[in-house]
Amino acid sequence: MKKVSTPDIVVVGSVNLDMVATVQSLPKPGETTLARTYAEFPGGKGSNQAIAAARLGSRVAFVGRVGCDEAGRTVREALIVAGVDESHLLVDAASPTGRALVLVDETAENSIVVVSGANATLNPGSVIQAAEAVEEAAVVLAQLEVPLEVVRVAAQRSKGIFVLNPAPARALERELLELVDVMVVNEGEFEVVFGQPVPEDPALLGEALAGRKAPASLVVTLGGRGALIWASGETTQIPAPSVNVVDTTGAGDTFVGALGNALAKGEPLHEAAKWAVCAASLSTQSLGATSGMPTHAAVRELHGKLARVDGQ
Ligand code: RIB
Repeated sequence: MKKVSTPDIVVVGSVNLDMVATVQSLPKPGETTLARTYAEFPGGKGSNQAIAAARLGSRVAFVGRVGCDEAGRTVREALIVAGVDESHLLVDAASPTGRALVLVDETAENSIVVVSGANATLNPGSVIQAAEAVEEAAVVLAQLEVPLEVVRVAAQRSKGIFVLNPAPARALERELLELVDVMVVNEGEFEVVFGQPVPEDPALLGEALAGRKAPASLVVTLGGRGALIWASGETTQIPAPSVNVVDTTGAGDTFVGALGNALAKGEPLHEAAKWAVCAASLSTQSLGATSGMPTHAAVRELHGKLARVDGQ
């Protein structure tokens, strides 16, 4: 069991075993399709974000639940290998470890079904048991693959920057939104959380949010088009580098983990998002959510290249 003294980042969230089949095209309703390949990988939005941040050098602790089974041991091992403190990853003897059924087509598009298993039994008590770490962390990351009351308690206990990635998306109550320092959504999640699509003109993002319950700052990830940042009433756009995409599973999680890594070091949101765009782009070059997550050196190299191009 690896325990880090004071974590930079605490992740409160899910951990799954991803069962990944590659297919020519995603099956339509009623269609049966043959897989080209099949493999299993560690996954779950929470665990992915923890591994992404740890691979970039952050001290990370993870709060979650697995079942008492082989899959639980596999995903715990992945956290240990990445250097994540998994002393708050509890074992629920009555539920299986979460699973995700992931299909990836030849254009690198995916569709995912999550079978929550032990993730659904995570409760506020687990966050309270880890309260010292949660309160001391510079950044707390949470998603919505665990019960909402767990996320609420994590937000209340966090004394640093609380980052919420509301995935899978759902409408959120004002009380929770008010506790969110930075929300990270993709375009689909934006539409569910804010009840309207992301405006085509980024300059209109602030207007779209006006009068709505919204977090303090918002990052909208746009896949290969980069990200939009809305903070202090201003919107800025960050372009993404072009890479050879194999699988986008976990790219959003790499973005959130890398954002946490930079925010924990005191980087302003805009700079942290540039770093996160580079990390997420690099992560799409391998199959599996965590396989392609980059090291600090790899992100620094790409980030430096982009800065030089920008400066020309
Ligand atoms: O964001 C990707 C992740 O979503 C996968 O690893 C899968 O487990 C689901 O949680």
